[in-house]
Amino acid sequence: MFSLFSPKEKYSLGIDIGTTSIKAVELTREKDRYKLSSYAALLARPSAQDMRTNTRIDVEFMQRPEGDIADMIKSLISAGGFKGMNNAYMSLPAFSSFTTVIDMPMMSEKEVRSSIEFEARQYVPVPLSEVNIDWNIVNHSAKDDQKKPQPKSDVPKPPAPAATAPAPVPRTEVLLVAVPKEIINKYLKIAQFAGIKLASLEVESFSNVRAIIGNDQSSGIVLDIGGQNTNISVVYNGIIYATYNSNVGGNDFTRIIGQSLNVSEQRAEAIKCEGGMVGGGQTTDMHVRELLLPLTDKIINDIDRVISIYKHRRPDVNLDKILLTGGGSNLAGVADYIKERTRLDVIETSPFSRIYYAPALDATLNNFGPTLSVACGLAMRGV
Ligand SMILES: Nc1ncnc2c1ncn2[C@@H]1O[C@H](COP(=O)(O)OP(=O)(O)OP(=O)(O)O)[C@@H](O)[C@H]1O
Ligand SMILES: [Mg+2]
Repeated sequence: MFSLFSPKEKYSLGIDIGTTSIKAVELTREKDRYKLSSYAALLARPSAQDMRTNTRIDVEFMQRPEGDIADMIKSLISAGGFKGMNNAYMSLPAFSSFTTVIDMPMMSEKEVRSSIEFEARQYVPVPLSEVNIDWNIVNHSAKDDQKKPQPKSDVPKPPAPAATAPAPVPRTEVLLVAVPKEIINKYLKIAQFAGIKLASLEVESFSNVRAIIGNDQSSGIVLDIGGQNTNISVVYNGIIYATYNSNVGGNDFTRIIGQSLNVSEQRAEAIKCEGGMVGGGQTTDMHVRELLLPLTDKIINDIDRVISIYKHRRPDVNLDKILLTGGGSNLAGVADYIKERTRLDVIETSPFSRIYYAPALDATLNNFGPTLSVACGLAMRGV
């Protein structure tokens, strides 16, 4: 029999609590493609911060009471008119998590399950009793025999080159993700207070990769320039191998402009967004570019160090492209500058290239794409 009614649409809501803004994207599925149902964003940083002081503006954000963050999510939900609160996905900040691929002798899934805790103890820099562990076999018969434990978040120094090339040995590579229980509990409370039913939590780097790489077997660096941090993820054949944290974000660009030109945060933000690194705004443009170069160089140096590590650890991986995302990647001229300095292919990405939406939203979503990438990737899980 034919039904007179179309099946009930399923909505999936992705919520990204960033240090600078909270973003939500709701998707449905139309045949074999994602369809945008609604989106909304809300500034999350404490207001009236004086840009002339040396305090990091958003550092307190994660310490804010769950009820306050939940209230912001409620405002966001009413602004977006969302319907997918019973099928919600939230991201966990990459800087609070530990992600690495560990190298084990060739073994079955059952064998991995029984030995993962022992292995994880050698890699995770905090007691296992304090973290939730998730793992997944990403590659049987991996040939690299040079894996080393990764420090928690800051970009480590590249190791010295190996004296002799290792003989190829069949291996099993296991992606390991550890997140402090304290952080997970905080997010569970936020969801509960906000009245949303959480289907899953995931580390934001994974959401980004889903949003901008999807099922492509691409390899490269995903660079998420956020407000407070920049996440550098190493992706091999579409799978994250590790995520490192560079301690510079878009808010540092605003702060340096504010401090150097002695203007308010709002004015500094406007100068940054108008001209970025290329000028075209109303202020002393060359001066602004010079102010932003050292901060961008810090991010580039961190990328270089990550690439050096992977050149050594995975000589078979060609990390020759950088996929840019995060609100900070909107900075005019930043993609060209990173390209010039690294000589890699630098690609500005948008999660909306994989999502159907009303053409009237084109201009808006072009601007917001990088900011909404994590929320899009989260929502993609649920439809
Ligand atoms: N057009 C623009 N030019 C330059 N910077 C921009 C532009 N639009 C947004 N930004 C910057 O992007 C940053 C916010 O990015 P995003 O929303 O990705 O951060 P977040 O997810 O809240 O932070 P984090 O990922 O560090 O937790 C801010 O510093 C903002 O000033
Ligand atoms: Mg972010």
